[in-house]
Amino acid sequence: MKEHTAIVTGASSGIGEAFARRLHREGYRLVLVARRTDRLESLARELAPAEALGADLALDGEIERVAVRIAAEPGPALLVNNAGFGAPGRFWETDARTLDRMHRLHVLCVQRLTRAALEKMVPAGRGGVINVASISGCFHVPGAVAYGATKAWIIHFTAGLHLELRGIGSPVRVQALCPGFTRSGFHEAAGMVAAAIPRPLWMTAEEVVDASLRALGRNHAVVFPGWTYRMTAALGRVLPRFLTDAALLAYSRRTNTRDR
Ligand SMILES: NC(=O)c1ccc[n+]([C@@H]2O[C@H](COP(=O)([O-])OP(=O)(O)OC[C@H]3O[C@@H](n4cnc5c(N)ncnc54)[C@H](OP(=O)(O)O)[C@@H]3O)[C@@H](O)[C@H]2O)c1
Repeated sequence: MKEHTAIVTGASSGIGEAFARRLHREGYRLVLVARRTDRLESLARELAPAEALGADLALDGEIERVAVRIAAEPGPALLVNNAGFGAPGRFWETDARTLDRMHRLHVLCVQRLTRAALEKMVPAGRGGVINVASISGCFHVPGAVAYGATKAWIIHFTAGLHLELRGIGSPVRVQALCPGFTRSGFHEAAGMVAAAIPRPLWMTAEEVVDASLRALGRNHAVVFPGWTYRMTAALGRVLPRFLTDAALLAYSRRTNTRDR
């Protein structure tokens, strides 16, 4: 009988699926959340005992349904807020409804589900929340402005929570996970040309999950998987903003995948 439950959003592919597989191996009972229920159900059968919970987490009512499911869990041990998507292109040319859905999914859903989990975890004195952000959240990224802004919110929110939990001496752990380019369904779903991205910059979803869980063991608040992205983040902290802005402007002109 598996005692610990992990809830993973966006478990139907990519990083979320890799989290689900790894947490199953580590002995967690899984609650898998996403919209593509056929994929979720087949994964839940493979990783039994696991529950497939179909939900569109860009809709208020569906977010609430998943929050209620978390609240009903006697001992949620881990929540991975991973569901997300990209919408590359100039901000003013991007569909307004898509931008709205992105903010609901990356901001309001992450906030609501984190609250539902911490409400149980903090009094119980155990548990962890991993909020999947992105290295883009540390920079101003032309062509992914709203995406980067929502991911910056996740980083700021999670790092603040980390401090708040430390302030009360809670053993509950929270982490903002900031991957760089990771092989998954992300780029295809966003209509991006992945071939434009240099090969050495790619990581696998399994490498990202491995880095995240290792860092959770050490209670790191903000995690950049892979040395390339750790260095990029460190440079972003020490270099003047005008230099990183200029570098990203040049990079975005070279790799603007939507204009090709
Ligand atoms: N891949 C990268 O290079 C990269 C880099 C940095 C950060 N990230 C972040 O990593 C996270 C996982 O992305 P990924 O790379 O694994 O891409 P992915 O393979 O496309 O997976 C995205 C997951 O999110 C789910 N999802 C999307 N919209 C949803 C919605 N409205 N409601 C419920 N679930 C939804 C998808 O499931 P359904 O379609 O079945 O709903 C899917 O399971 C995202 O937050 C992304 O921003 C990715």
